[in-house]
Amino acid sequence: MKNRFFLRIFISLFLVAMLSMTILLLVSVDGVTKYYLSTVEDGMEKSLSVISSNTSALLSAGDTSALDLFFISVAKSTGYRLTLIDTSGTVILDSDENPKSMGNHKDRPEIESALNNKAGKSMRFSITRQQDMLYIAILLNIEGKSPVILRIASYVSHTKEAVADFYGRFTLIALFVVICMVIVSYLLTKNVYGPIDRLVTVSKRIADGDFDARVVIFRKDELKVLAESFNIMAEKVKKLFSQSEESREELNKIISTMHEGVLVIDRGGKILLSNEAAKRMFESENMEGRNFREIVRNPDFSELVNRCALEKSGVSGEFKNQNRDILVNLGYIEGVNETVATLFDITAIRETDRMRRDFIMNASHELRTPLTAIRGFIETMSDGVEGENKKYLEIIERHTERLVNIVEDLLSLSSLEHTERLEKEFTDPVKLTEEVVRIMKPKAEMKGLSVTFEHDSPPKISIDIFKFEQVLINLIDNAIKYTDKGFVKVRLNHDESTLLLEIEDSGIGISDEHRKRIFERFYVANKSRSKKSGGTGLGLAIVKHIVLLHDGTVDFKSSNEGTLFLVKLPLNQERSR
Ligand SMILES: Nc1ncnc2c1ncn2[C@@H]1O[C@H](COP(=O)(O)OP(=O)(O)OP(=O)(O)O)[C@@H](O)[C@H]1O
Ligand SMILES: [Mg+2]
Repeated sequence: MKNRFFLRIFISLFLVAMLSMTILLLVSVDGVTKYYLSTVEDGMEKSLSVISSNTSALLSAGDTSALDLFFISVAKSTGYRLTLIDTSGTVILDSDENPKSMGNHKDRPEIESALNNKAGKSMRFSITRQQDMLYIAILLNIEGKSPVILRIASYVSHTKEAVADFYGRFTLIALFVVICMVIVSYLLTKNVYGPIDRLVTVSKRIADGDFDARVVIFRKDELKVLAESFNIMAEKVKKLFSQSEESREELNKIISTMHEGVLVIDRGGKILLSNEAAKRMFESENMEGRNFREIVRNPDFSELVNRCALEKSGVSGEFKNQNRDILVNLGYIEGVNETVATLFDITAIRETDRMRRDFIMNASHELRTPLTAIRGFIETMSDGVEGENKKYLEIIERHTERLVNIVEDLLSLSSLEHTERLEKEFTDPVKLTEEVVRIMKPKAEMKGLSVTFEHDSPPKISIDIFKFEQVLINLIDNAIKYTDKGFVKVRLNHDESTLLLEIEDSGIGISDEHRKRIFERFYVANKSRSKKSGGTGLGLAIVKHIVLLHDGTVDFKSSNEGTLFLVKLPLNQERSR
């Protein structure tokens, strides 16, 4: 890590330095070469002006051998090479070579320029000398003689030597720079990486759960600010973590002391959390991390969990676990996609309920026989009783009738509670209702009430005919019983999926305070009225029970101008009990 940091700094510095040094080198080499060449050229030009005047003088004197000697002596003392060439390119004299052995020079660039009366210059490789040479040639016009070209040549190899020397020095400088860069990179790494390394180490310790780890940096720059901010952040993380730890512990305590079982299940069915009650309920110690299906081996529970996750909403239901009745409420936590199951052991409640139902049924059965006997004897006695006793007997008869009604109602309620399957038949609901209305009509008319029946054309519906009649009888009976004047209207309509039965009256109404309890057994809203009418408060409980068995709903709207009971039954009942 540290080496990588060092390398990165070093390579960056190295690249920048090398690039700038290369540019500098190229520019410098070019400058040095030009400078050396111009110095050589300057010297040559100065010498040429002296040599040309001497050459012109010796030529006009026609002293070729003196000129030859002059050329040799100049060449010796200056190192220059002197050549005299005629305008056809033939070499006349040369300080270094025998002119006869030299080829025609007309095509040499410096000669071509000189022939055009310009001072010709050319730098090229001399095959004769096997060296780079700089040539300067001028045309000499001598009176009375044909013009000739004087050429002076000089080696430029010392220019190359100077450049090579320059390269050598430059390499030394580059080496020095590289060493400096290694030192600078090392110092920078130590200076910058050291604090960063400490930050990294401390952050790793914090990530591993050591929230007390802090960074100490003795300097006064941005890294110090960074370290301080880091320490503040670490302090906050520590505080937040301890807070969340505290609330987690508190929550765990609450959950573990709960009487109800709690299971938190993730999307894959894994149990993330369970409390003591759940462990007791399913007799399993290690639940966390296991699939809930291994622990709660019940298809109903699995289906409820799946449904909750699928619908992403709360679901409730019951299931059996080792002969215990368990009520479960499932909630869905969006975002984390977890299901929370709260489980209640309702075995005792179910048992009490069953005992209650059995008791009512048995008691009603037991009461039925003596009541039938009493009824029979009252009938027998009524013929022979006169005066006061007849009045008493009538009271006995009325109360006995009431008792018989209660027993009958209780029996029918018990039988409903024990009903597992309905005796369903496809029936025309209009015909059925019409028949009940016809039977109930005389009772209403005796009270001076009008009874009407309106309906659309609902399709046949699968219902338990006898039980549906009970619903109709009870609701119409109530409407008649609790209405003194006006009407009783029965309506039967339907929409796509529902059959709607309405029984409306213009009676005394039901005040809102009774709304919650009106469908309970033995609940009467108006006690004195019920006493008079002989109501026991069981009719609506029977109605509710039957409607629920048909997967329907029953509700009412009421004011002091009358009451409207509304029964809704699904037209396509999938479930048939
Ligand atoms: N149409 C109605 N108008 C006003 N009050 C009503 C009406 N229907 C029911 N109630 C009130 O609701 C109570 C419960 O009715 P429910 O039919 O259960 O019992 P009941 O009529 O008193 O007795 P039962 O029907 O068992 O002979 C009644 O006592 C009455 O106070
Ligand atoms: Mg009633």
